[in-house]
Amino acid sequence: MRNYYQFAFIILMTMCLLASCSQEEKKYQIGVSQCSDDIWRDKQNSELQIGAYFHDNVELRFAAAYDSDERQIQQIDSLVETGIDLLIVAPNQVSTISPAIDRAYDKGIPVIVFERKTNTKKYTAYMGADNYEMGHLMSEYVATRLDERGRIIEVMGLKGSSPAIERHNGFREAIAQHPGIQVVATLQGDWTEPTAYNMVKQWLDKNKGGEKIDLVFGMNDRTAMGARKAFEEAGGAMPLLCGIDGLPGENGGIRLVMDSLLDASYIYPTHGDQLLQLAVDILEGKPYEKETDLMSALVTQDNARVLLMEGEEVMRQSRNLEQLHEKANQYLDQLGNQRTLIFVALAAIFLLLALLVGIYMYYLQRARIQDERMQMEREKLDFYTQVSHELRTPLTLIQGPLDQLVRTDDFKNASDNARELFNIVRRNTHHLTGLVNKMLDAQVGTPIQEMTSAQVDAITVSQPIAAPTALTEQDEDAPTVLIVDDNSDIRTYLQSILQGQYRLLEAEDGKCGLELAREQVPDLIVSDVMMPVMNGLEFCQQVKKDDISSHIPVILLTARALERHQIEGYESGADAYITKPFSPELLLARIENLLQSRHQLKDLWGMKPATETAAAPVVSATTPAPIEDAFISRFKKIVEERLADSNLSVEDLAADMSLSRVQLYRKVKALTGSTPVDLMRKARLAKAQKLLQESSLTVSEIAYQVGFASPSYFTKCYKDEFGIVPGEARKP
Ligand code: FRU
Repeated sequence: MRNYYQFAFIILMTMCLLASCSQEEKKYQIGVSQCSDDIWRDKQNSELQIGAYFHDNVELRFAAAYDSDERQIQQIDSLVETGIDLLIVAPNQVSTISPAIDRAYDKGIPVIVFERKTNTKKYTAYMGADNYEMGHLMSEYVATRLDERGRIIEVMGLKGSSPAIERHNGFREAIAQHPGIQVVATLQGDWTEPTAYNMVKQWLDKNKGGEKIDLVFGMNDRTAMGARKAFEEAGGAMPLLCGIDGLPGENGGIRLVMDSLLDASYIYPTHGDQLLQLAVDILEGKPYEKETDLMSALVTQDNARVLLMEGEEVMRQSRNLEQLHEKANQYLDQLGNQRTLIFVALAAIFLLLALLVGIYMYYLQRARIQDERMQMEREKLDFYTQVSHELRTPLTLIQGPLDQLVRTDDFKNASDNARELFNIVRRNTHHLTGLVNKMLDAQVGTPIQEMTSAQVDAITVSQPIAAPTALTEQDEDAPTVLIVDDNSDIRTYLQSILQGQYRLLEAEDGKCGLELAREQVPDLIVSDVMMPVMNGLEFCQQVKKDDISSHIPVILLTARALERHQIEGYESGADAYITKPFSPELLLARIENLLQSRHQLKDLWGMKPATETAAAPVVSATTPAPIEDAFISRFKKIVEERLADSNLSVEDLAADMSLSRVQLYRKVKALTGSTPVDLMRKARLAKAQKLLQESSLTVSEIAYQVGFASPSYFTKCYKDEFGIVPGEARKP
């Protein structure tokens, strides 16, 4: 049992293990360290994320430093600590972030520097647009736009950040080629709108009333818009405003150009998806470009509308993709939940089944143990029954004859000493019987009826029985008793008890007993239970099953004193059950009682005295009687059919019923109390009585018709039966 539960537990654990194994495969963790947080970074981050959707095994971890060197250094270090597989970094300034990048790289983590440069060589790849070129081209545009003549202000990006440096260099080198253009101020910004606003406002305050400014070049669109705000506040002519970034969307540079808030912008490419692909290629060991230049383009009033449409379409597609991904994630979550649910349900079913099987096995085992215990108990009881049987039979043969002897004249005339000795023997026999009963009683735990010697004495005194006398020839009508017992002493003893009152037949086992019962049809059977060849229970069953013998009362006389044995006896059809050692009086009383209580069908033909019948004629000669059984019905039918045959003999009737003459005689006698010959005559007379009342036939005709050989004999018999002659029975 314990082994079974261990086995079930191991199976369950294996199921859990398999379920958890199939959960997740290894993911690439990519750290993204952004120097700041703004709409340009947002766009790039979301492109990175969309790029990651195309790779199941990629997970992104974003960090934004809000333009702070210290924060970015600390964020890179902690990303490295959490065990990222690759670092993408846009360093806030060229030199300040390099140590943190070096530390990551030295740990074997591939590093992609993006968009802003650093002064370390420890990076795996670089991707970004050419900021020098951008400054240069912007300068060419400005010169053309101002028609080679004008005053301009340049507002820089964060000091020390590579795009600010490169854009400035490109712009200034190119503008130097246009002598009509004068850069009246270069203001230090930090990529944010408020700083640009403040710087320009200060300058305007300082140069109030000065010559007009024709154009402001802000190094990004937010810077340009900060300058615009300052000029608006200051009043006066609004200069042309140029920026860089050229983002699509609500506050993006393209729309600002389209709405003429800016004069021009320059698309600074984000390309997050391309960046992600580069990272995956590096992680998967695929070939990749160490330096990637991203293409860029100028946004002016001429192309702003088209670029905005394009840009916003891309954004719309991206949003759709996001939603799609979210949906897919929801489905995956549901799927995951369902999988968990199914697994839990399966585990629960498995546990339940295991429990049920366990309980079933437990009960099976318990039932087996109980069966074995009961079997042992039965065997023990059978053993004691056997032993007690062995003791009870000789005890019966000592106790019974002693009880009988005590009532004889010989005993009464014996000397006092002899009588005393005799009584000692008798008392001790009873005592021994009591001990045998107690021994069995102790084994069974139920009291067994035991007759004390006092009770025995009481019976012998109150119901003295006559000494047995043999039956004479004239006692041929005495009831026949069949004794069936394998012990010849018991048979002899029973004979000594019964021979004065009954005719006796003997058999030494059930099989012989059955043959005798069928052949001789005795009035009663006394049978032992434990016998060779066929035991008493089987014998009793066969007797009761057979048509010929079924009516015979059976007394089982046995040493099997247990209640269970008695029940078995009655179940086999026995009419009485007497345990050994038995009192002869009890046996005689039981036999007498059974013989007397036989229900005999006396008036088989429903005959009434003729006087009564004259007044109330018999309607039917075959009114059914309550104890009438199949045998009697068959007998009546055959007799009635063959009534007219005056030569009909008992042998003929028996042959018709497939019986011997003796069998028919005894069976009919036992059931009706009359002989077959008597019954035949009664049947004829009953029929005659009917004809006398219902027909106009003459008495002689009726006599012949009902099978009488002579009318005078008919008249005699009729008178004997009904007390009147046939003529008197006729209707007036
Ligand atoms: C975004 C940004 C852009 C600019 C770039 C320079 O953080 O400030 O506006 O073009 O960075 O690195």
